Amino acid sequence: MEGFFVRVDVAGINFNDVQTEVLIVGTYKHPENTQGWSDFVSFYGSSLEKWLKTGDVSTDRKKLTKLPTLQDGKLLRVFFVGLGDRKTLKQDDLREIFGTIGKELVASKTSNVSIWLDSFINEDIEIEDAAYLSAEGIGMGLYKVPNYKTSSNEVDAYLDHVELLTNSDEQEILAYFEVGQVYAEAVNEARTLVNMPSNVLTARNMAEYARELAETYDFEYEELGKAEMEELGMGAILAVNQGSTEEPRLMVMKYRANEEWNDVVGLVGKGITYDTGGYSIKPKDGLVGMKGDMGGAAAVLGAMRIIGETRPNKNVIAVIASTDNMISGNAFKPDDVITSLSGKTIEILNTDAEGRLVLADSVTYAKQQGANYIVDVATLTGGVIIALGKDKTGALTNDETFFETFLEATVETGEFVWRLPLTESDKKRIRKSDVADLNNSPGRDGHMIFGGGFVGEFVENTPWIHLDIAGTSDASAAHDLGPKGGTGAMVRSLATLIERMSLENTEENS
Ligand code: BES
Ligand code: ZN
Ligand code: ZN
Repeated sequence: MEGFFVRVDVAGINFNDVQTEVLIVGTYKHPENTQGWSDFVSFYGSSLEKWLKTGDVSTDRKKLTKLPTLQDGKLLRVFFVGLGDRKTLKQDDLREIFGTIGKELVASKTSNVSIWLDSFINEDIEIEDAAYLSAEGIGMGLYKVPNYKTSSNEVDAYLDHVELLTNSDEQEILAYFEVGQVYAEAVNEARTLVNMPSNVLTARNMAEYARELAETYDFEYEELGKAEMEELGMGAILAVNQGSTEEPRLMVMKYRANEEWNDVVGLVGKGITYDTGGYSIKPKDGLVGMKGDMGGAAAVLGAMRIIGETRPNKNVIAVIASTDNMISGNAFKPDDVITSLSGKTIEILNTDAEGRLVLADSVTYAKQQGANYIVDVATLTGGVIIALGKDKTGALTNDETFFETFLEATVETGEFVWRLPLTESDKKRIRKSDVADLNNSPGRDGHMIFGGGFVGEFVENTPWIHLDIAGTSDASAAHDLGPKGGTGAMVRSLATLIERMSLENTEENS
């Protein structure tokens, strides 16, 4: 993969030798406690101590002070980044701080930078963490939304050289930095997919992207079109696609960590390239933004990119169903009864509850292909936004242990996930229909649960986690780790889940 940091070095600390344009210095409340601080002051100039006292250089958390240097070397500027109290700075804070630095590096068109890694460590943050978080945070912060402006003749300034300054003799610092970089790049790829308009990213184009990804990382790849879906009886995906002039696609990727295809984790993503609602049409304000209804697919594709780079010891199958949800003389309608791949029949009550339909067939296919665990990811319901806001992903599960492992992964990545209940009475309402086994829209009260619970009807007893990212998949304003638009939600958590399950595997076998 082409990195945005073309060259990364690790060097010892000799400030007089710094050859980059910018030096980044983490500044805790009492910077004199940072190892090597007096060397830095003698290099930079003793006025620094005065400026720290007057507050001209702020140590407040996330405050950035940019100052020029007086030496005539290559180094033009020092970015002092306030870290606040040394005791309370957490890894999540540091990731965000590096995100803001990434943004600043783009804004200032910096092409090479040194990071004084040792200045960031505390009780909670070891040098490896600082290396990892700097790559991940800066990498995510650098992201810019691709646009189609003809007037834009701005040349993108890309950071192409990073030097990590440390006195630590840890050999693996560079490796940690590179993993952070892989995670950031995967997130940014997912963001771009979410940001692409639906006339550009059709189901066929998404499948082309998936095929290339599979080739790059040597995944087994299978792609089903309309004819194959008809043959297999994927009535649920086909119903959603029925009103479209675009062909649907089912993308299947297999990452084989082991010879034997058992103990397989299935990652299933909703890939609706545009959701008009169909005949249960959305109001005009509800339509804008529905190009992002493939955020689940983007999350799975992003996670597969990380898996392809880091090669964990765990078999993984990715299944992504993609189509748009359109209106025409052929479109499916409320009152229709359809037969899914599983054989279960579904009464359509609302054509805007289309995500659960494509997920139903995808989950069944993942199981048929050997998945023993399933995580589905989808921009599934407006209900999750009402319940949890735009910064928390909603979850359902049928397996405490599996969910616990996933929660640990999300604590590591800093992506907030909150579980909602799925009770027998919820399931009863999903199964209530005079004419079919299930209905696709039991009501608006607590409907995040109905959306996920419907998918659960096809998962059956397989350990399962449902992730509703309707709120978290795109940001309505710029944030520390990126701009407004696609966020790449769950890319890092899915990959970290697989990483953790891979470690469990390795421990069992040793
Ligand atoms: N794609 C939408 C969910 C959505 C809403 C995503 C807002 C992002 C932002 C989904 O297909 C949908 O329309 N859900 C309906 C379900 C209802 C008809 C049962 C909803 O949430 O209103
Ligand atoms: Zn919908
Ligand atoms: Zn949708």
